[in-house]
Amino acid sequence: MAGLLEVKAKLAAARAVTVLTGAGISADSGVPTFRGADSLWSKFRPEDLATPEAFARDPRLVWEWYNWRREVIASKKPNPAHATVAEMEARFPHFWLITQNVDGLHADAGSRKLSEIHGNIWKVRCTACGLIEHNRQVPLPMLPACAACGHLVRPHIVWFGESLAVADIDQSYAALRSCELLLLIGTSGLVYPAASFASIAKEAGACVVEINLDPTPYSGAADIALHGRAKDLVPLLLD
Ligand code: OAD
Repeated sequence: MAGLLEVKAKLAAARAVTVLTGAGISADSGVPTFRGADSLWSKFRPEDLATPEAFARDPRLVWEWYNWRREVIASKKPNPAHATVAEMEARFPHFWLITQNVDGLHADAGSRKLSEIHGNIWKVRCTACGLIEHNRQVPLPMLPACAACGHLVRPHIVWFGESLAVADIDQSYAALRSCELLLLIGTSGLVYPAASFASIAKEAGACVVEINLDPTPYSGAADIALHGRAKDLVPLLLD
């Protein structure tokens, strides 16, 4: 694969690398993606399950869906693509991982320099006092209550119509503007603001590389596009 050799050469010379991942990197671990055949949004309506309005209307329904997703994800393990991304942290003097995934598999693989911009399914947040807690219990009892104040907790996830945390935005933009190479791994590039991240890096002079099973809206803007499974392609980048 000609593009692969070029990416390897660029990585070998790079000092500042930023990675943006999406559901495709965890697909190889068995976590369902959001779009495409057999995906979550082909079976469920996001407006019923992943909006603040849906939670206000029917918190039990939303929690039942998140309990099901927690159960699905609980048995999943990081794959070689997560492991390679974790290894990149030590390889490059300046490195940052931005993930849209809420499954926690990057952290399980050892990544520490990361922004989980859409939150984490293993964290709950109190709707009253705002306390955020790690919680790996599956299933959570209905309806789950805050350990500190007893009020209803919600998944610590950024739902449709909600804003990303300011710290995550700042950290992500800084990493996008300062990298020499941006790797986009397994994301459809359809959800903002992540959908704009490739152009931010490109305008700042970065080389943009897409790694995806299929072409995406990013492909046209990418300098190099590699098509295949993340678990097969990503480990080749550093070997
Ligand atoms: P999508 O489900 O939209 O896209 C997954 C991408 O991964 C697609 O482009 C696939 O072609 C690609 N893909 C699938 N299997 C792959 C594999 N084995 N190797 C490489 N690529 C593969 O997921 P995201 O782009 O992550 O938001 O979606 C973005 C956001 O939309 C999610 O974070 C979620 C969703 O609504 C929230 O839940 C807040």
